[in-house]
Amino acid sequence: MEPDRHTKILILDFGSQYTQLIARRIREQRVYCEIHPCHIDGAAVRAFQPAGIILSGGPMGVYQQDAPTCASEVFSLDVPVLGICYGLQLLTKTLGGEVSSSSHREYGRANLEIVDNTDLFEGFSKKEPIDVWMSHGDRVDSAPEGFEVLAQSSSSPFAAVRQRDRRVYGVQFHPEVVHTPRGVEILANFLFSICKCDPSWTMASFVERSTREIRQRVGDSKVICGLSGGVDSSVVAALLYRAIGRQLQCIFVDNGLLRKGEAESVESVFRHHFGMELTVVDASNRFLSGLSGVADPEQKRKIIGEVFIRVFEEQARHFSESHFLAQGTLYPDVIESTSVRGPSATIKSHHNVGGLPEHMDLELIEPLRELFKDEVRRVGENLGLPQSIIQRQPFPGPGLGIRVIGPVTAEKLEILREADAILQEEMLKSDTLRQTWQTFAVLLPVKSVGVMGDERTYEWTIVLRAITSLDGMTADWARLPYDLLGTISNRIINEVRGVNRVLYDISSKPPATIEWE
Ligand code: XMP
Repeated sequence: MEPDRHTKILILDFGSQYTQLIARRIREQRVYCEIHPCHIDGAAVRAFQPAGIILSGGPMGVYQQDAPTCASEVFSLDVPVLGICYGLQLLTKTLGGEVSSSSHREYGRANLEIVDNTDLFEGFSKKEPIDVWMSHGDRVDSAPEGFEVLAQSSSSPFAAVRQRDRRVYGVQFHPEVVHTPRGVEILANFLFSICKCDPSWTMASFVERSTREIRQRVGDSKVICGLSGGVDSSVVAALLYRAIGRQLQCIFVDNGLLRKGEAESVESVFRHHFGMELTVVDASNRFLSGLSGVADPEQKRKIIGEVFIRVFEEQARHFSESHFLAQGTLYPDVIESTSVRGPSATIKSHHNVGGLPEHMDLELIEPLRELFKDEVRRVGENLGLPQSIIQRQPFPGPGLGIRVIGPVTAEKLEILREADAILQEEMLKSDTLRQTWQTFAVLLPVKSVGVMGDERTYEWTIVLRAITSLDGMTADWARLPYDLLGTISNRIINEVRGVNRVLYDISSKPPATIEWE
């Protein structure tokens, strides 16, 4: 499914927190790239047939014990190389220059003076210094022989260097972060002026290539796809449907933990609009009885995950002629599992739902495993999925099961569904929903006293949660207008039976998490 060799960039990951950003910036330039661990061997580097190689930053110093290195082929393949931060220091050390862990630490914004505005800095002015983002302890003290200085900062005399004949470049700053406002132009110069890449990686071309590859791989066999109604599984289904039509069998498990109208919308889009083969299984009672009386969040997550797998397996057995199971794995998941750092510590047992049985005798097909989320959305648009699905906010696999705090009951789920629907409706109406990463309601197991008309009430509490975030890793609470909060609160208390109090959650992540359980 990869494009031709002259369009591919290889990124070697030395463990920087910004490595994924390098890949995203390159893909935004419509050039295909992949991140691989820095220690892949020379044969793998050669087999990749890169048009250029980028060495990422990393947390270590090049003289530290066990400091990561890369195969010597990186510098002998006659392919342009760009080292970023640690990448620059590594190539300096490897090619005979000097790096010191001096007192010249440089963190944050710096002023970069450009001394040579050809190739890497084409289009820049020598008279106008630019802002760049630095984050390094070590620095280059003397460049390897044959290298020339392209740019400098007050603390980094070798802030950008080049060896013209070998086409080896290095920058001490991070062109991939937004704090280097013209970083994208520098990366584009590397891609187009130096590596001579074609900007041919588009989502339309991805769909074409991917369709061809799926057809070839699947042949006459059948494929099963678990649909959740979320962006990823919806795009997988639409892509497979385009490739193999009715050889695709979708299974949608209604776990009874979905938001209002969600199950109906999945049926309407996939069965009625696309005409796909779709089995809808109403398993809400099984989930509810599994959850009965369980208050512990981790136990609830495990139960929901296990029941899901059991129900899915039973259904899949009806399609015994199937050989493949489709999954919506994305590129960040792939990187996570192959990265030099290893998977980050588990705070909650995420992704256990929708994680499918390992022992099923089916081959996996993961057509989105090269894509970032924004690319997946563009593929979805290309395949004609409605905006209501493409722009959907993330929704956890365990659904409302972890938003009814404490033991889950059918009544509580109904209350939460109604309150959440009002919240969504008002946020959409005021055009505020798309300004948040996630907006949802939570039902607390807390009753309080109120008065409605002349009657005393003693009812449940709803919490509204609206957060802004770039990736879900950190988050801040959204500063929603008071009037909007007032309208939502009034409507919930007036329209949802069983609720007499509404709160707004003003905790950020960290130290709180986005979900309550
Ligand atoms: P937390 O609550 O850990 O959530 O701050 C981070 C993001 O992950 C979503 N989330 C999940 N997604 N399965 C999922 O697919 C899960 O079990 C799960 N739990 C949380 C959460 O909604 C937020 O976007």
